[in-house]
Amino acid sequence: MKELQAIRAIQPLMKRHPWAITGMVVLGLLEALTEGLGISLFIPFLYSLDQTGLAPAAEGSLAQVLTSLFELIPAPDRLLIISLAILSLVLFKSVLSYGNGLLFSWVDTKLSHHLRSRVVDQLLRVGLRFIERTKSGKLWNALESETWTTADAVSTFIGLIINFATVLVFTTALLLISWKLTVVVAVVLFVISALVQLMTRRIEEMARANQQADQALSQRVLELFSGMRTIRAFNRQRHEQRRYDKTSWRVGRVGFQQEKLSGLIEPVSEFLAAALLVGVMFVMLNDNAGNLPAVLVFIAILYRLHPEVYGLDEGRAELVSKLPAVDQVMSLLGRADKPYVRSGDRPFDGLETGIEFAGASFSYDAEDLPAMRDVSVHIAKGETTALVGPSGAGKSTLINLLLRFYEPTEGEIRVDGTPLHEVDLGSWRDKIAIVDQDVFVFDTTVRANIAYGKLDATETEIVSAARQADAHDFINALPQGYDTVVGAQGVRLSSGQKQRIALARAMVREPEILILDEATNALDSISENVIQTSLQKLRRDRTVIVIAHRLSTIEQADQILVLDKGAIVERGDLGDLLRNNALFARLYDLQKRPAYLEESA
Ligand SMILES: Nc1ncnc2c1ncn2[C@@H]1O[C@H](COP(=O)(O)OP(=O)(O)OP(=O)(O)O)[C@@H](O)[C@H]1O
Ligand SMILES: [Mg+2]
Repeated sequence: MKELQAIRAIQPLMKRHPWAITGMVVLGLLEALTEGLGISLFIPFLYSLDQTGLAPAAEGSLAQVLTSLFELIPAPDRLLIISLAILSLVLFKSVLSYGNGLLFSWVDTKLSHHLRSRVVDQLLRVGLRFIERTKSGKLWNALESETWTTADAVSTFIGLIINFATVLVFTTALLLISWKLTVVVAVVLFVISALVQLMTRRIEEMARANQQADQALSQRVLELFSGMRTIRAFNRQRHEQRRYDKTSWRVGRVGFQQEKLSGLIEPVSEFLAAALLVGVMFVMLNDNAGNLPAVLVFIAILYRLHPEVYGLDEGRAELVSKLPAVDQVMSLLGRADKPYVRSGDRPFDGLETGIEFAGASFSYDAEDLPAMRDVSVHIAKGETTALVGPSGAGKSTLINLLLRFYEPTEGEIRVDGTPLHEVDLGSWRDKIAIVDQDVFVFDTTVRANIAYGKLDATETEIVSAARQADAHDFINALPQGYDTVVGAQGVRLSSGQKQRIALARAMVREPEILILDEATNALDSISENVIQTSLQKLRRDRTVIVIAHRLSTIEQADQILVLDKGAIVERGDLGDLLRNNALFARLYDLQKRPAYLEESA
């Protein structure tokens, strides 16, 4: 049963607020009791109104019990007292209902916040491989909408329990008034419910299609945003519009299909219920008109019972329609089936001798060719190592492994002789600063972007880092200087400016190990020279790993590693490699010409 599956899925969430949830159910039950009693009091009310022409209530029936309750009160006051009793019950029920509404929304607020926060926690913790392999639209959708739906599912379920209790209370009242009539009505209601259930099953299938369509739309939107430049540059606006419209239309169509069916449930069951009420009146009053008070109250309760029974069906359908979202969120939060980078427990206080790759191999996917094959290399403390090689050679991969974004599939990386996976991850990354190949800047001020490298950096530290990265002058020229907001993905900056901010962010960290992944790529020669000078100063007490195609950087390196197809094919200093006259010499020749032209220009 899908309902049970859904209940099982939300169980861990219910356990978070056991008292609130018990309170919700108890309040809900009290509401039903109060309302049931309130309606039933209309029997003595009608009896005290006028007794002529009414048959006495049957011995032992609810009508009789309730009427006798008020017999002690003198006849002239009776009507007033009963009216007041009814009013008080209505008031009490309204208070209960408001209180319970608040409780519902409190639990909902707590749960949906908890889920969103847990999803983000998961996204920040889980191995990068998982994120790369899962469509971002799916993750986005889970965070942005499915967490809400999942929290809602809990409310829906509690609502169902209350619904059920209410049905029980009202049914008991009906049985007490006339059990025979109740049985007939129950059978008819059961048939209505069975009919609704048939429709529910179809809706559930549609909900799944709906969810897929939503995910596809989220994916389109994400790509639309991130690919805005590419789309325009290739003049693919119409193509994108068509793709978007198609996906968007599908969401609409699938939603409409679902609405066509789910919108039918209410009118159909309402009509059937109305027919039932008219039937009951006809049969009972045709038989004996003196039953009027009991019949009226029976019908009133039945009338209130109907939305509850209908709510029972609707609630189940709703719960089931939320199951895909609940499954998605819960499985996203599950830890068993996902890769994690485990932190070791040895704190890292700084390099003593160096970092060593010992026969390290790695492939991103089992079926892929290895991105790194049997790499053994020693990176000594305080030295500068340059990584060179054609595109796709595995340079960034080596750095990914060093940062422990991924684990080597074979061999290992050692830090001062300790396997890297035994080192505390946080303290390791705290000592590293990287300027990535794709610079990422946050949509905030320049100052905050630089201070991201050291959250408590002082103004002096920030400015000094900016100077070292040759960013100070251009930052001052910005409209609000260091307070300029750079825009989403740094749209207000050029690539070279973004890189200099990223460099400043790395500098402010005063890292033990500095990693530059083609950091000088987008810089002009003047900036590059300034940075080279800074780097030379920086190099003195730092271990630097730099991926650079620029000769000036390579020439400064103590050690050059030439990578090709994931393997180290040459190593040594500049002189060694030129004498070798192999891959490096070829790359060097290619590079030398444009670099030379640039310098003389
Ligand atoms: N996240 C990833 N998932 C799967 N494969 C990847 C991933 N990143 C890189 N690769 C593959 O690993 C190989 C090495 O890539 P890497 O990014 O290390 O190259 P690179 O030397 O940095 O190249 P470039 O100079 O172009 O930046 C490539 O074949 C690439 O397709
Ligand atoms: Mg790279």
